[in-house]
Amino acid sequence: VPEKVNYKARIKTLLKEKNAVLIAHYYTDPDIQALAEETGGYVSDSLDMARFGRDNPATTLVVAGVRFMGETAKILTPNKQVLMPELEATCSLDVGCPIESFSEFCDQHPDRTVVVYANTSAAVKARADWVVTSSIALEIVDHLDSQGKKIIWGPDRHLGDYIQRKTNADMLMWQGDCIVHDEFKASSLRDMKAIYPDAAILVHPESPESVVKLADAVGSTSQLIKAAQTLPNKTLIVATDTGIFYKMQQACPDKEFLAAPTSGDGATCRSCAHCPWMAMNGLKAVYNALNDATGHEIYVDEKVAQGALVSLDRMMNFAA
Ligand code: 13P
Ligand code: SF4
Repeated sequence: VPEKVNYKARIKTLLKEKNAVLIAHYYTDPDIQALAEETGGYVSDSLDMARFGRDNPATTLVVAGVRFMGETAKILTPNKQVLMPELEATCSLDVGCPIESFSEFCDQHPDRTVVVYANTSAAVKARADWVVTSSIALEIVDHLDSQGKKIIWGPDRHLGDYIQRKTNADMLMWQGDCIVHDEFKASSLRDMKAIYPDAAILVHPESPESVVKLADAVGSTSQLIKAAQTLPNKTLIVATDTGIFYKMQQACPDKEFLAAPTSGDGATCRSCAHCPWMAMNGLKAVYNALNDATGHEIYVDEKVAQGALVSLDRMMNFAA
């Protein structure tokens, strides 16, 4: 469609003119992911997006994902301009963990180390001792547990439960969830597995325990792509946002990927397994952000950013 071609061409020109780079999450539209790859940008999970943005020489980062990803980029590189196609693109975990009540919860347990998922506001990160993403959460909690630390975990209860089952750490949980992953249904997944007995099941740990229990591999978005490559199965049932199919298919051209069911009757509701906030990152929105930064630029309060940098840096150094 000519309009799409136009946006792509205009974005490419603007990226060069503004010394900007496009960094996209695996859950964004294939159009956006392809454009990031074509233009020397990057497509990855939330930890690697942060790393790439920090280390790339571009002076402007266009972060196609959800708000916390843009905020993380800004906190790590305050001297760079950070643009987002859509500033309203939030995350149910972030929304469900307001700083005031989370801070009160932490105040009630001053003996505990506060570990928060990257899917939170800058203020919540500033209140925390550690930030983690799903690709490194298990190792960091295991490390803290080995030092005898008791933990406050927030906000994703499913990821927290998964880590607790794996590490046996003493974790007090905030009760948030991801509206996308919370929808996967174990009973329908079992029915689907009966239809495809040779398929392997890949699950993001933001999914409920009953779904995680059926998994052949559990992990962050990039870990699931690796699992798709390593597992011998030709068919894979995937319980995470369907945006990941673009990269999975690219990594494994000979394999077949099926979306895990999100409704009780076994039907796969594609739109249910796609984050509505990630879906806001269209080509037009990327173009708009580059064309006029007004209403697209991320700012983080300096004091909050300084606090959040401490807990973010702990994760980045641990991951290094
Ligand atoms: P990853 O860190 O695995 O990319 O997950 C981010 C996210 O928002 C998952 O829903
Ligand atoms: Fe947040 Fe879930 Fe969307 Fe990820 S998929 S950004 S956790 S709402």
